Amino acid sequence: MSMDEATRRRYLETIGITVWQRRDSLTELQPEPAKPPVLDKPQLASPPAPEPIVAPPAESGEMPPAWLDEAPPLEGDWEPLEIEPVVPEEAYQASPAESDVAGLDWPALEKRVKGCRLCQLREGCTQTVFGVGNRQADLLIIGEAPGADEDRQGEPFVGRAGQLLNEMLLAMGLKRQQVFIANILKCRPPGNRDPRSEEALKCEPYLLRQIALIRPRVILSVGRISAQNLLKTEIAVGKLRGRIHNFGSSAIPLVVTYHPAYLLRSPEQKGKAWADLQLALSVLRGVAR
Ligand code: URA
Repeated sequence: MSMDEATRRRYLETIGITVWQRRDSLTELQPEPAKPPVLDKPQLASPPAPEPIVAPPAESGEMPPAWLDEAPPLEGDWEPLEIEPVVPEEAYQASPAESDVAGLDWPALEKRVKGCRLCQLREGCTQTVFGVGNRQADLLIIGEAPGADEDRQGEPFVGRAGQLLNEMLLAMGLKRQQVFIANILKCRPPGNRDPRSEEALKCEPYLLRQIALIRPRVILSVGRISAQNLLKTEIAVGKLRGRIHNFGSSAIPLVVTYHPAYLLRSPEQKGKAWADLQLALSVLRGVAR
């Protein structure tokens, strides 16, 4: 077993996923696996990311864990679900005051978010949580909203759920710094209550601008609030996960999975989450679309 494979297995075990291996594959695994492809963004005019995403080695004799039988196959047709918008299209038009967000560069956008008072949330939180990571990332993770730890530190996913997210990323072969992490909301809702739809709509232009600036290859939407806001639906995460959606009218593939905080409470769902992460990886590698 190569070091990389061993490390990946360790991360998988850390996040609670049992990795089974065929006996006969032990000898097959002896030669160094082919160098994994380096995924860059040849179609984009922007300079290459400082740390390109390196996908982990292709499957090397690993037996899929039992849960994979229930997950959809990685090949075949990935038809987006028919999703009826629950809020009329006009409701998503940015107000005149917000519409110029679409033209902001990173520093101006960050400044705008810091000074935002479009909803009441800013009054009750310590600071805005803009998002963190590689601004040319291939993978964009979108969560719900800052919690107490994030509100204190000004960075998304730094609490227990963040630790698990980091481990999930490592299992994918990615370091936290290689991806960009953001939330539906930039401000912490009081007592960690669910974001209200009007708050999400006020905050949306900032996230849309971040997406436009990053131009990720894949969006990984974690949790119900993230998925339902991004896909404009009320369909449950369990039905949205396991397939590839398109984000809005863009061609950006979007994969939904469970929120790491939910996985901490329901570790038996980690297998499905791992299937989702593999699906996102297969899109990054160009295997599925
Ligand atoms: N949960 C989220 O959805 N986002 C964070 O930043 C932290 C916890």
